[in-house]
Amino acid sequence: MYADGKLWIAKGESKVYLLPQYANRHGLIAGASGTGKTVTLKVMAESFSEMGVPVFMADIKGDVSGLCRAGKDSEGMRGRIEKLGVDGFGYTGFPCEFWDIYGERGHPVRTTVDEMGPDMLTRLMGLSEVQEDVLRMVFRICADEGWELVDTKDLRAVLGFISDNRKEYEGEYGAMSVQSLGAIQRSVMSLEDAGGDIFFGEPALDIDDWFRTDSDGRGFINILHSVKLAHNPKLYSTFVVWLLNDIFTTLPEVGDTEKPKLVFFFDEAHMLFDDAPPVLVQKVEQVVKLIRSKGVGIYFISQNPSDIPDPVLSQLGNRVQHALRAYTPKEQKAVKTAAETFRANPKFKTVDVITELGTGEALVSFLDEKGRPGVAERAFILPPRSYLGQISEGDYRAMIYGSELDERYRERIDDYTAYEAIGGAEEKAGAVKAKAAAGSKTKTAAKRTATTRKRKSYAEKATDRMVGNAASAIGRGLGNMLSKKLFR
Ligand SMILES: Nc1ncnc2c1ncn2[C@@H]1O[C@H](COP(=O)(O)OP(=O)(O)O)[C@@H](O)[C@H]1O
Ligand SMILES: [Mg+2]
Repeated sequence: MYADGKLWIAKGESKVYLLPQYANRHGLIAGASGTGKTVTLKVMAESFSEMGVPVFMADIKGDVSGLCRAGKDSEGMRGRIEKLGVDGFGYTGFPCEFWDIYGERGHPVRTTVDEMGPDMLTRLMGLSEVQEDVLRMVFRICADEGWELVDTKDLRAVLGFISDNRKEYEGEYGAMSVQSLGAIQRSVMSLEDAGGDIFFGEPALDIDDWFRTDSDGRGFINILHSVKLAHNPKLYSTFVVWLLNDIFTTLPEVGDTEKPKLVFFFDEAHMLFDDAPPVLVQKVEQVVKLIRSKGVGIYFISQNPSDIPDPVLSQLGNRVQHALRAYTPKEQKAVKTAAETFRANPKFKTVDVITELGTGEALVSFLDEKGRPGVAERAFILPPRSYLGQISEGDYRAMIYGSELDERYRERIDDYTAYEAIGGAEEKAGAVKAKAAAGSKTKTAAKRTATTRKRKSYAEKATDRMVGNAASAIGRGLGNMLSKKLFR
């Protein structure tokens, strides 16, 4: 709950507040299943929204959707409200936007192959070093030829064309083996099977849409429906890394602010790190470290703190530890490790309390006024004001169709991109019958039709990034203002 200019999250001997100015120092919510992690996440998200800070969360189990509806009164809830002395408690729904890579329970989230770029694709497709080099050449060729890579169909077409016309390109770009090109093509196909055919396309997500507040000044809670996505951990983790990286590269540096600009919550965070290749973990580590100064806070939710790699864990300043079990020696060790990360409270033994905590009760340590980890408090998390359960199919539809973003994202656009350009180039080549004799590469892509919006090529985007985030952020702001004026 937003109270006294702070985020009131729990009540022990006294009220426990998360300080807005340190909310960008990230956090962790841990505990065995059924101990109250998801409810804690909701209570935090509600408080951020109330404070005017937009939130993004991945909903792995489908159980946070109730945030958009007012909670239902019950005896249990009344008891908790009274016990914790929550004055002015009222059930209410919060402004939410639903998103879904598969477009079923939210606005479709898409990105383009160009925007994802060769680094991320290499990771997503698990390419070897040699294949990665070839993929980079392919991107360079596309940038030079003016071929836009939007969906996987574009990428396949380009790989096929370059493979057929390899000799023409090798002089300028370096050697590319048929085997490597073939291997990449096969990887693209497995990527498509894994949902890449849906994820890559236009209109691509405009990150600005996650930074909205409603007419009452409450921050929107953006919920990425991830039930299906979670069955594909590779796509899930790559998506998350891409997202954080994209936000990181586009947001301007803001240093320390009164409150964060956006807060992320990743439930079932172990999914991000289990079996993730070291490069991916490194990327998360790096982004977590640096994104703070862009005013973004990241909160991981997981059963055990040890699910999170140490370098990431050490960046998480605000902690809520729900109960852990300690039956096996391994569990006992995990409890001990978890206890050691807390600043001891002379009133109790941390290690004992962790196993005694009830549902919705936790050891809480938020950064204090000086930015130091606070002494561990044993406290009850406030009850959520929104609905605890999952919303219905019809509710989802009402939320999606009723949103002003629906029109923008619903329909997929298939513009004139690399696939069509290659088709044209091949036709032309067939007619002339001798590509080599023509002596030069076909530059059909320059003649773009049917496109009203200017997309950025990979090369241009790279320059953007070099030019500086501040400049591009201003540019984006202007663009938005202009388009709002134009389309009013
Ligand atoms: N702060 C709380 N206020 C009220 N009820 C709570 C609270 N925390 C947990 N509960 C109850 O416990 C149940 C399990 O909590 P949940 O957050 O789903 O656990 P976890 O995510 O750790 O598996 C909830 O459905 C709710 O009934
Ligand atoms: Mg949960």
